[in-house]
Formats: sequence, C-alpha cells, structure tokens
Amino acid sequence: MPELRVGERQWTVAAGSNLLDALNQNGVSVPYSCRAGSCHACLVKCVEGLPSDSRPDALSHEQRRQGWRLACQCQVVDDLQVETFDPLRDGLAAQVAASDWLSPSVLRLRLTPERPLRYQAGQHLVLWADQVARPYSLASLPEEDRFLEFHLDCRQPGAFSEAARQLKIGDPIRLGELRGGALHYDPDWNTRPLWLLAAGTGLGPLFGILREALRQHHQGAIRVIHLAHDAGEHYLANPLQAMAEGRENLNVELWTAAELPAALAQLRLVSRQTLALVCGAPDSVDAFARRLYLAGLPRNQLLADVFVPHG
Ligand SMILES: Cc1cc2nc3c(=O)[nH]c(=O)nc-3n(C[C@H](O)[C@H](O)[C@H](O)COP(=O)(O)OP(=O)(O)OC[C@H]3O[C@@H](n4cnc5c(N)ncnc54)[C@H](O)[C@@H]3O)c2cc1C
Ligand code: FES
Repeated sequence: MPELRVGERQWTVAAGSNLLDALNQNGVSVPYSCRAGSCHACLVKCVEGLPSDSRPDALSHEQRRQGWRLACQCQVVDDLQVETFDPLRDGLAAQVAASDWLSPSVLRLRLTPERPLRYQAGQHLVLWADQVARPYSLASLPEEDRFLEFHLDCRQPGAFSEAARQLKIGDPIRLGELRGGALHYDPDWNTRPLWLLAAGTGLGPLFGILREALRQHHQGAIRVIHLAHDAGEHYLANPLQAMAEGRENLNVELWTAAELPAALAQLRLVSRQTLALVCGAPDSVDAFARRLYLAGLPRNQLLADVFVPHG
C-alpha cells in the first residue's frame, strides 16, 4: 500500500484512495468546497512522488510543474509526500478596505491586496479568514477599481460568512489562487444580444461583466435579470437602474422568487445570436438554464458559473 507523508507524519493508505479524503480523514486539514475541480480550495503541493490526476487540465502548466495538484481530483497510487497550501506562505496578503451591508443579507467586502492582482471580470478566488477558506467571485473591475470587491451571501449561517461578519477595516485576509470559471466578456460579442441572469450574489461577477461590457462599448442589447428572495434583496437595484438610464441598449429586470415561475414562462429569445451568462446557486442556475434551452438557446451560447456550497 502506498505511503502518504505530510511534514513529520507518515501513514499508509489504500491504493487509489482519494487524496483529499486520505488527508482529511487522517487529521491533515485541507479545505475544500466544490469537490469538482472548479474552486481550487483544495490545492496541495506534491514534493515527492505524484498522484494520478483526473483533471490535469484544471491547473496551468506552470502550477503543475511546481507540483500543485487539486487534492479532490487525485488518487494516491504510489508513495507521495505533499505540503498543504499555507495561506501565509502561498497566498497573497490583503487588508479589508471596507465592509458594508448592501441588503439585510448581502455583505460587500472591499479588499486591498498587498500587490496588484491581474484579473478579469468574472474570475473568482479563495478567500481565507480565520483558517476557513471559501471561493468567492470578484465583482470589481481591474481597470476601474483600486480594491477587490466581493458580494457575500450571509443569509444562512456558515463558517466563512460568520467570520466575514466580524471583519473590520484594516483586518488581514489572505487570497488564494485566482481562477477563471465560465464567465467572462469577449469583445467579439460586441453586437450580439447579451443576457446576464443572476440569482442572489451571482450578481457580483455579472455586475463586473456588465461594467466590462459597457467599458468596451458593447453595442448589442444587454438584458440583466436579478432574481432575489424578495424585493429587499435586490441589492444593486439603484446602481443598475442608474446605469440603464440614458442607455437604450441596457434593460434591467428585478425578479423575486415568488415571481420566478411566471417570469420564466414569459422568457422568449428574440435572437438566436443571444449569449446568456448565468450565475448563482445551483437550483436557480438550473432553472434559468432549462428555460433558456427550451426557449431555443444553443447550448454553447450559455455560460454558467454555479455557486456550489461547501460540501
Ligand atoms: C466558484 C465559486 C464562486 C463563488 N462565489 C460566491 C460569491 O461571489 N458570493 C457568494 O455569496 N457565494 C459564492 N460562492 C458560494 C460560497 O463559496 C459557498 O456558499 C460557501 O460554502 C459559503 O461559505 P460559508 O462558510 O459561509 O458557509 P458553509 O459553512 O460552507 O455552509 C454552506 C451552506 O450550508 C449551510 N449550512 C452549513 N451548516 C449547516 C447545517 N448544519 N445545516 C444546514 N445547513 C447548513 C450554510 O447555511 C450555507 O448556506 C461561490 C462558490 C463557488 C464554487
Ligand atoms: S477544486 Fe477541489 S474542492 Fe473545489
């Protein structure tokens, strides 16, 4: 049976064991969230030996060359020595620049990183606070904002949301590796209809993408739909409406959960050229995606990022 080593600790595991489970079940705490290779919370560094990897494409060539692997996607097949991701050593330091409630349940965190971070609207990274690591999406734009902005859904109790509630200006926080999901803005889309469908804080990355589309003078019609639990949770209603004023090609719709079935039933595609970007909790993304498919949107014109909760 292969041996697994972390620091001074060494133990044997069944060949083929999932690396994330083998570590966590033996007292080496490795954070995780999606267990699907998308959030990168479970990064570990292989310093001797290599595991078998089901998603080699999920990391860059350079990261893999340095030995980084996603533990949730790896199986232990041979002796292996790993180091866990240490936010103090491997993460980027940042400070809380502002912490504001945009609605009863949405906390906006603005962070100043120790050194500039090169990113694009729609990307996400893992935030570390009090040894809890969770993926969150960037709502800011590198060209226009000096801070990194995140919109956190704190409606339900959760380890990270509880820690985030306590954060004050100047508090330290660590940033994990930057990661791109499906969401982005492509200047080649300039004349095409663009639909941005957000559920809850799924609006954060889509707000960044909307601003990026406007910054790049998007010519096609842009339709923004924000689905929230109730009207009080339309936390960007004012800025969105202000952006729509005087812009004929931008339309903003605010839907509540109670209105969803009727509103979805009314959803019609005006053009087969439409691109739909969808983001939020799994059930809402699913509902949007199913309706878009029924309405005739080709599958490859739907880009979705799902806020999978910690498993
Ligand atoms: C790529 C990606 C990007 C994301 N971006 C964002 C973002 O920008 N904004 C955002 O708000 N979220 C985002 N998420 C989702 C967020 O990372 C998760 O919701 C995360 O789990 C929240 O962490 P937490 O510690 O607050 O809650 P956790 O402790 O991880 O709990 C997760 C959920 O389970 C519930 N729960 C916990 N314990 C119990 C229990 N005992 N009984 C019942 N329910 C329980 C919690 O209430 C919470 O809703 C993203 C997720 C991914 C994968
Ligand atoms: S990538 Fe492994 S838990 Fe998300």
